[in-house]
Amino acid sequence: MPHSEEALRVIPLPAHVRRDSMVGAEVTLPHAMRHLDPESLSDKDRKTLRDGLFDNGVVVIRNQQGLDPALMPRLAQLFDATAGHIHSGGDKVVTDKRNILAQNNGSRVPRAPQVTVIGKGKWLGYEGIPELDMKHVSQTTFHANPLSKNDLDAGFTRPYRWHMDAPLYERLPGFVTSLHSIKNPTLPDQKLHFPSGEVLDIPAGGTAFYSGARAFQLLSDDEKEFALNTTVQYAPRAYEWILNCKATDDGLTIASSGAEKSFDDLPGWTWDKVHAFPMVWRNAGNGEPHLQVLGCCVYALHTKDPVTGKVTVMSDLEEVRKTCHKLTSKVYKPQTLYVHRWQEGDLVIFHNRGVVHSITGELTKPSTDDDPEKRLLWQCSMLSGTFPEAYRP
Ligand SMILES: [Fe+2]
Repeated sequence: MPHSEEALRVIPLPAHVRRDSMVGAEVTLPHAMRHLDPESLSDKDRKTLRDGLFDNGVVVIRNQQGLDPALMPRLAQLFDATAGHIHSGGDKVVTDKRNILAQNNGSRVPRAPQVTVIGKGKWLGYEGIPELDMKHVSQTTFHANPLSKNDLDAGFTRPYRWHMDAPLYERLPGFVTSLHSIKNPTLPDQKLHFPSGEVLDIPAGGTAFYSGARAFQLLSDDEKEFALNTTVQYAPRAYEWILNCKATDDGLTIASSGAEKSFDDLPGWTWDKVHAFPMVWRNAGNGEPHLQVLGCCVYALHTKDPVTGKVTVMSDLEEVRKTCHKLTSKVYKPQTLYVHRWQEGDLVIFHNRGVVHSITGELTKPSTDDDPEKRLLWQCSMLSGTFPEAYRP
């Protein structure tokens, strides 16, 4: 066996798939390794995988059917020595109905309680879970101007909500999220329509990503200066706060204001546990700047004058949302998006502090036994002990 096949390799996806996104690579495991096993990798292989993830944002390992779900929580340590032992969403994030993240009706894998089950359709006895009846969330329920019946009949979809996997309260977001595909829809491609008039074919139920590094590069010099000096204050209990809000067509922010819950109606919270993060994060691998904003959850922007040190606070919610949208929408173009075309068995690891992602796809028909929309994935994002580091030029 040639030596090169004994080592783990990270190979960027073909240029026609990556296009101008800076996202996507395939990992081939060392020859004797059937399932990714981080503890059995050599130091050199661990470094190759780590660097490959930080440089490419999203990496995929194919044919991981039969993977032990307990691997997924352990994986976080490879990229973050301060990763904790609980899911960054805590114990109840997918089952607490006060929370917009519970709308999928997902569950947790009983033998690996840090692993969330997400998807669409009915499953009886899956992994010992008596009954799963999962609903695929889509723009039909979350967008201010949902697609018309004609658009839906023509196969259009939209990004649901662009985000990082970040609770924005108490627990710090993980460096990585892992996703493992168990079952994919067997449907024709769907389509995204962009403000430019362009149309992009995407796989039904594909997970969309953009690189925060590419998003930063696309800013003007003045916008870069603003972003580098700005801290994003997120709302208290942001996912409860926006429960009744509606998104812009691209899913990058909330379309208007006024539908937020009153702070008094949110589950108990204190300001010291609500997160405020830099707008531009430093990549823990290659040191590059990444524009990392959860535009649906923003509350205020605090911008420091680099000369005088004076801080200006933007607190008008519509202005805050419009400002974030202006910055993040520059990357919302067909050539700078990567939409993962799931194959069953894929293990995808993504740099949660370096890319922004969204669910896509219209999988909204009533569930049946032979439902072509049926979809099931495992998801794991472990909390970190490290605060996101601001990029300093
Ligand atoms: Fe997510």
